[in-house]
Amino acid sequence: MKITKSKFEGIFWIENEKKKIATINLVPGYAPFGEQLIKHKNVEYRIWEPHRSKWAAAIMKGIKEFPLKKGNKVLYLGAASGQSASYISDIVGDRGKVFCVEISPRVMRELIFVAEKKNNMIPILADATNPSEYEFVGEVDFIFQDVAVKEQVDVLTKNKKFLKKGGYAMIAIKSRSIDVSAKPSEIFKNIEKELEKHFIIVDKKRLEPYEMDHIVFLLSQKS
Ligand SMILES: C[S@@+](CC[C@H](N)C(=O)[O-])C[C@H]1O[C@@H](n2cnc3c(N)ncnc32)[C@H](O)[C@@H]1O
Repeated sequence: MKITKSKFEGIFWIENEKKKIATINLVPGYAPFGEQLIKHKNVEYRIWEPHRSKWAAAIMKGIKEFPLKKGNKVLYLGAASGQSASYISDIVGDRGKVFCVEISPRVMRELIFVAEKKNNMIPILADATNPSEYEFVGEVDFIFQDVAVKEQVDVLTKNKKFLKKGGYAMIAIKSRSIDVSAKPSEIFKNIEKELEKHFIIVDKKRLEPYEMDHIVFLLSQKS
């Protein structure tokens, strides 16, 4: 097995029969989602599956930047049970924080279990369309958004006020959440036009074959 640093901070290539990405496990021995753990030279890596996380899929598809850094403060909108957020937590490390906003009390229960182990994850039961519910978060370096609702761009623009100058946002768009009958490529074109009014589009990646009819945009702030 070969383990090498990727060009992105905190993300590694693990080469066995297949090439996979991984993070360093912030809580060694802990694998809440049944993910594979690999111990190598006293370091424990967690395999980050692109079929289970849109951000991992965007990396596997060759997104040109993933500007998340150790120590970053992150606002994660639509955290669900915290699967993808747990990898963001590995990358930002002990000095970073991941504020995980989730509207569903049912999945929030699972998220709380994960956050009890991963101290830098802060679960927030709230509606991302109403950021006044979590003003206490303050400024963040990065926003991840994966809420799969119709008004996805609106949700992000409402939360943009949390982003520090020079900060980044990553948004996952599922075309079927917007319109089940329209062509995904048309929907994505319209979304891109909307996003361009508020952000600079750094890169975008369709997520097939990992997720059908999904796209991820990496955005930076307009000065
Ligand atoms: C596709 S799942 C997120 C999966 C997660 N990002 C991951 O990869 O582990 C979308 C989540 O967004 C949540 N959600 C939908 N609308 C929301 C809102 N207005 N505010 C906060 N969360 C919302 C849903 O309850 C659901 O758990």
